[in-house]
Amino acid sequence: MSLVLALETSCDETAAAVLEGTSRVLAGVVYSQIEEHAAYGGVVPEVASRSHLEALPSLLEETLTRSGKTLSEMDAFAATTGPGLAPALLVGANAGRGLAAGAGKPFLAINHIEGHLLSPFFGDPEIPPHVALVVSGGHTLLFDVTGFRDYKLLGRTLDDAAGEAFDKVAKLLGLGYPGGAAIERLAAQGDSNKIAFPRGMLESGDLDFSFSGMKTSVRYFLQKGFRPEDLPDICASFQEAVIEVLASKLTSAARKCGRSVATLSGGVSFNARLVERASELLAKHNIQLQVAKPALRTDNALMIAYVAALSLSFDKPMNTKTDISPNFDPLTFPN
Ligand code: KG4
Ligand code: ZN
Repeated sequence: MSLVLALETSCDETAAAVLEGTSRVLAGVVYSQIEEHAAYGGVVPEVASRSHLEALPSLLEETLTRSGKTLSEMDAFAATTGPGLAPALLVGANAGRGLAAGAGKPFLAINHIEGHLLSPFFGDPEIPPHVALVVSGGHTLLFDVTGFRDYKLLGRTLDDAAGEAFDKVAKLLGLGYPGGAAIERLAAQGDSNKIAFPRGMLESGDLDFSFSGMKTSVRYFLQKGFRPEDLPDICASFQEAVIEVLASKLTSAARKCGRSVATLSGGVSFNARLVERASELLAKHNIQLQVAKPALRTDNALMIAYVAALSLSFDKPMNTKTDISPNFDPLTFPN
């Protein structure tokens, strides 16, 4: 059974993990930088990069101590090499490559999106056929998955990511960064039928998304003036609009592809109303919803280690490229 040490530094979390086989978690540690970026209202790449560099040595030490293993016992080292912020990616990718060279073991370059994509099955030795919606702060991607490393992109956002729309609306409402969780908390006390925000591309007939118009309609609504006591209704109405599109398109995709399993992953899958609405719509067609464990929904290194472990167990060609890829490229994914 393989022993893998993985690093994740693509955005504002510095994370490391040690995984034995595809399921035995020996260590998984995440240092969040959110507070460092909150003052700027978003992630600042240079701040993220410096912070990863500073955090990595103690993070590695803590991870190794918890795992009870040494570097020389690892069979392989893995790191996220994209997509993400270039200065941030470089820190983990270079560290991973250096550790691998030092230990004389292979280095596996892992795609961050593949990490999120497979996270609902974390621990399983195989990936069943399913459709998957990856919804994070940077991405909204819908895939048909036949098995490990057999992915077809069905749709994606044409502008903002779903999490980005939550964050931008939260900023307009003065709720701070990141704002998804704050919107969900307020929405719980509001009436989602109060304001009819548009459901972007709900009737487009394809599986793409658009959230920027929904954010703009919130801005126009706010320009007319609002009272603090209106906040719960605004949050609930906006959240429901976004969720309706996400849940409907996931369901359409599963039906179109004839899949009996659908998944949600990425930071936005923390949203309990999204999970509730998606399972409701999917259940009507006997499709089962699988969501990653909470600790695996935001950025972490266990999901990266899991992809690395699967690629070792299936003997799928390893991605050993020596560069980072900051942008998501549907043509080469998952490389
Ligand atoms: O996956 P993630 O940690 O980072 C990226 O790879 O982007 O996702 C972070 C995103 C942020 O946009 C955040 O606002 C959103 O996930 N998010 C939520 C909730 N919790 C986090 N969005 C809606 N509802 C939530 N409860
Ligand atoms: Zn992510």
